[in-house]
Amino acid sequence: MSDGVRDEILDLIRRDGPITFDRFQELCLYSKNGFYSSRTRPIGTTFHTAPTTHHAFGELIAKQLDEMWRLMDEPPIFHAVEVGSGDGALARSIMHACVTRFPRFAQALRYVASDYAPVWPDESLYLEDLDALQPSTPIQRVRAEGISAFRSVHGCILSNELLDNFTVHRFEMQNGQPREIFVTAGPDGFVEVLAEPSTPRITERLAGVALPDGQHGEVSLAIEGWTDRVAKVLERGFVLTIDYGQLASDLYSAKNPNGTLRCFKDHIHSNDWYEHIGEQDITSDVDFSALMMAGERRGLASVGYSTQGDFLTHLGFDDLIEELHNSGLSAARTSLREAAMMALVDEEEMGDFKVLVQSKGMPAGIQLSGFAPK
Ligand SMILES: C[S@@+](CC[C@H](N)C(=O)[O-])C[C@H]1O[C@@H](n2cnc3c(N)ncnc32)[C@H](O)[C@@H]1O
Repeated sequence: MSDGVRDEILDLIRRDGPITFDRFQELCLYSKNGFYSSRTRPIGTTFHTAPTTHHAFGELIAKQLDEMWRLMDEPPIFHAVEVGSGDGALARSIMHACVTRFPRFAQALRYVASDYAPVWPDESLYLEDLDALQPSTPIQRVRAEGISAFRSVHGCILSNELLDNFTVHRFEMQNGQPREIFVTAGPDGFVEVLAEPSTPRITERLAGVALPDGQHGEVSLAIEGWTDRVAKVLERGFVLTIDYGQLASDLYSAKNPNGTLRCFKDHIHSNDWYEHIGEQDITSDVDFSALMMAGERRGLASVGYSTQGDFLTHLGFDDLIEELHNSGLSAARTSLREAAMMALVDEEEMGDFKVLVQSKGMPAGIQLSGFAPK
């Protein structure tokens, strides 16, 4: 356990009294010794994400970015700002695909991979043909929190598995109303107590949701601040958000009686957020309804929403499987790669993740291939 973070939280509670879970999570993940701030190991050692699973993910996203560039009338410069780029696996696979498959777009593409705590491992871990990355199209790496470091983006702001880390307020329903779960110190560690919500925004977010007493859940208010900044930073173009999550009607329903909060440490899933403090990821499903509504209030139109499986399939996933089978690899290697690729679309794995594209300054009714078969 990282005693530094634990002690920091206990000191705070002794000084100020019970804290919201949102504050607790923020300290666990982002304080000086927190999980993300002190991370020195690549993402793949804690959990696999789509880009670290197979570069087909990045290749298909590259195809979608190329189409966005064409829909924007092929501007000479197209920014792709990836926030929470982690090990840079997505950045490299997108750039590689653009250089090899979409060379005209690659000339315009300015790719920025930004992360709170980037860890760029040996590049050969992800790509076999890095020579294809021409010096004219380097990836710019940035260490930054969120999107605030950027201005005047013309292109696309994208993220994969970033928003699930946004901090959450937790609640339990009592007498038809949400009561907020606060964290305090007991004789043997952290203890949860229920009280009036720390802000009316929690109850407002749950307006229209009918939940039985005893049901737990989470509300991420950070979605609003994030969308606010994204809408300001994006001058014209798109926001592409990929993550695990649900619409509010599913998120706040009998499907999730205990909410969706969970932890990951060394590939192991747990529901004990008071263990391994500062050494494990704490995450929950993204409320995509809240994200769409926050965007619409700030001038970001919802262009498309679907599962990752459908999105990648519409973009030509099956063609990449066919290419793999025609690539001349041994049967054993082909089947290993195929299994990794299938995890991207299998709904029992990452295929049920969600994809949302929002736009700003683009004509209404715009169609993207990821959401409609050609
Ligand atoms: C689950 S990892 C996903 C990494 C990468 N997108 C991928 O799919 O492999 C989440 C990443 O987001 C970064 N991150 C979390 N919160 C952030 C924030 N507020 N600003 C920038 N990066 C953040 C973390 O450092 C971590 O690298």
